[in-house]
Amino acid sequence: MITCSAPGKTHLIGEHAVVYGEPAIIISVGKRAYISAEKSESVKIYAQDINQSGEFSISELKEFAEKLQQLWDNCFETKDFAPLYSLLKNEHLGHIKAMIANTMAELDINAPFSLKINSNIPIGSGLGSSAALSVAVPKVLSELFRKNLTLEEINQIAYKIESLAHGTPSGGDNSICCYGGALWFKKGTPNVIEPLHLDFTMKNFVLVFTGIPKLTTGELVSNVRSLDPEYRDMRIKQLGAYTYEMRDCLTEQNFTRIKELMNLAQELLAELGVSIEAIDEIHNAVKSIGGGAKLSGAGGGGYMVCYHEDLQLLKKFIKELGYVPEQVELGVEGVRVEK
Ligand code: MEV
Repeated sequence: MITCSAPGKTHLIGEHAVVYGEPAIIISVGKRAYISAEKSESVKIYAQDINQSGEFSISELKEFAEKLQQLWDNCFETKDFAPLYSLLKNEHLGHIKAMIANTMAELDINAPFSLKINSNIPIGSGLGSSAALSVAVPKVLSELFRKNLTLEEINQIAYKIESLAHGTPSGGDNSICCYGGALWFKKGTPNVIEPLHLDFTMKNFVLVFTGIPKLTTGELVSNVRSLDPEYRDMRIKQLGAYTYEMRDCLTEQNFTRIKELMNLAQELLAELGVSIEAIDEIHNAVKSIGGGAKLSGAGGGGYMVCYHEDLQLLKKFIKELGYVPEQVELGVEGVRVEK
């Protein structure tokens, strides 16, 4: 039996804008998705954290991979991914089945295996639960069938898998879950993926959960896309400018401006329609005590990332608001084989 794991992530800045070619700063977090694999008589999946299981034949998975690819192509042409999202939602273990079927097609795997998934990354909450799995699945199958994939190859398959789940993602989420640490990510041909060395800034950040989003990442990204282009693009450009400035501030350790930039980014994301009342409430409250707070990832709920030099004050204040400040390790190792 082989076990691999990949971390979750948080966006310090740049989410949504990164879909339009602006940069993002993304940091891995110390919550991981674990997948164990061994050879077996049929393809069996057991997702422990959601207590669901399924058994599939190789031919069924092959057909599913082809069907998904065709549907994705049609959706891309019509610029409407709703049919893809609803197929995955309605299919038993739809997302994970898509990940497995796609990886098998990419790696030309024709032998059965069983997979056990155990993730401590909360699902659909902006912490990269699906991106971590999209990286861990090709990694564990590469190990089991001795395909010797490089990190770059794993990341490419993960991007394909993420596209099936989210339509036209930036590729930032799967890249951080693959490489770990902290990344400067900019979509392009090729993508710019540069490690950032932020060890000194990793303290004094807390994550705060504001509730499960009603919409998926794909749906939230589509909502932003459907805004008036002039209104949207002004804000996307501004988010990009803040992200460049954030990189400089991190190097200079200019925390006053880091907090301001977090707050400014949050206000633009709210204008793009991806915030909710609870996020606005926490943002305004943390800002009022001199901190920085913003949503992290697609928004619509999920996790926020907050910063204050006085960590005890920040935690106490968030608790008084009725939320739980979570201090998780940041900048952790990317996808790996577990010993
Ligand atoms: C989601 O975690 C981040 C978004 O920017 C989407 C993406 O980058 O693909 C909202």
